[in-house]
Amino acid sequence: MQPQMDSARIVPDDWLNPLPIAHCFASTNPIEVDLGCGKGRFLIERARTHPDVNFIGIDRMLRRIRKIDNRARRLGLKNIRLLRVEGYYATAYLMPPDAIRAYYIFFPDPWPKTAHHKHRLFNPRFLDALHRTLQLEGLVHAATDHAEYFTEICAVLRADSRFEEIEPFQPTPDERTDFELWYEGKTPIGRISLRKRAP
Ligand SMILES: C[S@@+](CC[C@H](N)C(=O)[O-])C[C@H]1O[C@@H](n2cnc3c(N)ncnc32)[C@H](O)[C@@H]1O
Repeated sequence: MQPQMDSARIVPDDWLNPLPIAHCFASTNPIEVDLGCGKGRFLIERARTHPDVNFIGIDRMLRRIRKIDNRARRLGLKNIRLLRVEGYYATAYLMPPDAIRAYYIFFPDPWPKTAHHKHRLFNPRFLDALHRTLQLEGLVHAATDHAEYFTEICAVLRADSRFEEIEPFQPTPDERTDFELWYEGKTPIGRISLRKRAP
């Protein structure tokens, strides 16, 4: 695909292929994704302290994406791009192959009722999408306060031999997400991180 673009506006010449996401940024720095970025506390802080990394924030709530956009503009952050879109769709259809260095998936909706478990993000199909779009040795970092969903996330990830488990990602105090701050001291937080193995 030969998109017509500068780094601020991007107009792909077809919509059947993944987005030429690297062209959305002014630099060729590695790209990391905050999936379900919420109000963006982690995303903004991480982008501010890691200017050598390009970040994509994805959330399906327009209000939250707008809020992050306003803050990022106020702070003059050039290394954030935002997508208001469903997370599985973005990963499976919009992210290009072998393009993403890390996914941060913090406090994904737990859908606690059994009848709603089918809406949970983590399942083998989602792992296929993560694997396809991650660079070699790319990372997946997940965290949740929901013990039962955490057990399920760990089971799904550990069952996939395309990934190896590594030490869990620990945010700095300023990187803790809005949801983490909310649950702090009330509920233990489960964290798991994995690395994409060589084929
Ligand atoms: C529990 S909040 C956590 C937000 C943030 N990661 C944090 O830790 O503060 C979950 C966020 O994911 C978004 N979300 C839930 N399911 C989603 C999906 N399938 N696709 C995109 N965003 C989703 C929600 O709109 C919400 O902002």
